[in-house]
Amino acid sequence: MQRVFDDHWVPEGYAAPNTGVYPWQWLWDSCFHVLVWRALGDRDRAQRELAEMFRPQGPSGFVPHVNYVRSLGFHEDLWGRRDGSAITQPPMYGHAVAELVRAGWPPDDEVVAFAVSGLRFLLEHRARDRNGLVLACHPWETGTDDSPRWDDRCPDGFDRDRWASVKDRLVSTIETGPDGEPLHNPVFPVAPAGFNALIAFNARELATVVDDAGLAEEADLLTAALVDRWSEEAGTWVDAGPTADGSGRVRTLDALLPLLVDDEPGRAATVVDQLLDPRAFGGPAGPAGVHRAEPTFNPDAYWRGPVWPQLAYLVVLAVERHSPTAAAHLARTTVAGAWASGLAEYWNPDTGAGLGAVPQSWSGLALVLAERR
Ligand code: GLC
Repeated sequence: MQRVFDDHWVPEGYAAPNTGVYPWQWLWDSCFHVLVWRALGDRDRAQRELAEMFRPQGPSGFVPHVNYVRSLGFHEDLWGRRDGSAITQPPMYGHAVAELVRAGWPPDDEVVAFAVSGLRFLLEHRARDRNGLVLACHPWETGTDDSPRWDDRCPDGFDRDRWASVKDRLVSTIETGPDGEPLHNPVFPVAPAGFNALIAFNARELATVVDDAGLAEEADLLTAALVDRWSEEAGTWVDAGPTADGSGRVRTLDALLPLLVDDEPGRAATVVDQLLDPRAFGGPAGPAGVHRAEPTFNPDAYWRGPVWPQLAYLVVLAVERHSPTAAAHLARTTVAGAWASGLAEYWNPDTGAGLGAVPQSWSGLALVLAERR
């Protein structure tokens, strides 16, 4: 693992997710890398990678999901800016900051302030739906690009190529503020359960280390709005917006992330059962990304069934609060899958066969999970 992280380290101050496929700095990947650097005992790189991620942050607080510091202007035609993209990603920096503080490696005050303003941007400036949930401006913002949750937004149903062109077009309909910050996308007015759960969770995490009652309050309000999205019948949290009665109910792993902030024992038990059940999400190589009984489940297709280490890690955190034994099992199977896959970007939940880019830095979360087995 140390060798992969050394190979992926870029002098500008971050680990590339993969040196060939993903050479730039991605927001949520880097937040997870910070946790891996912590497990590797490298305080300096943990701090530098977190700080570098905020380099393209604008005055509005908005944090671009890609930092192009290595090749400024690379995708300027697509994003209309040189240093970073024009969309964000789940604000995992709240958790990364809190974990560093808990490790006794507190980031600089400046970096903590960047994290607070990043979350404040999402909580105060980003458009909301009538349920009080935060709207995503683009499927890429959720990090789960080709999830079946978005299938209703693909004309004539999901098709990888068609969806790729829809995603490209969706960049052009984002409404921005004075600093180019993404505020709303009328063509994709979806409030995903998973994305909102990660905003609430990260706001809560940050509120444990900064004196900011507003953050904790906002996190509680979002959590309350998420409770209303639970479907007893489907056993999942349902997205709000135009997909709510269709693909927004597909049982995906990220849609179970409200368990990170929800404390109701009945819902927790329903979720934990599904995570362990081999006919639902359970798998010998970690939790599947989509419930196996969904017609769209495909254990080898990008975002449509494989294990994703960062989601598995988040699910372990969520489950630990309710069932330490179940969390240990999920950690163990995920670690086994990560190694079997050759530390891949994502992998088959039954065989652990590696998929996507190999090696991918966030599979280093196996090291963090191994501490929890
Ligand atoms: C893909 C994933 C996204 C990730 C990026 C870099 O685009 O969908 O979640 O951040 O790759 O690993």
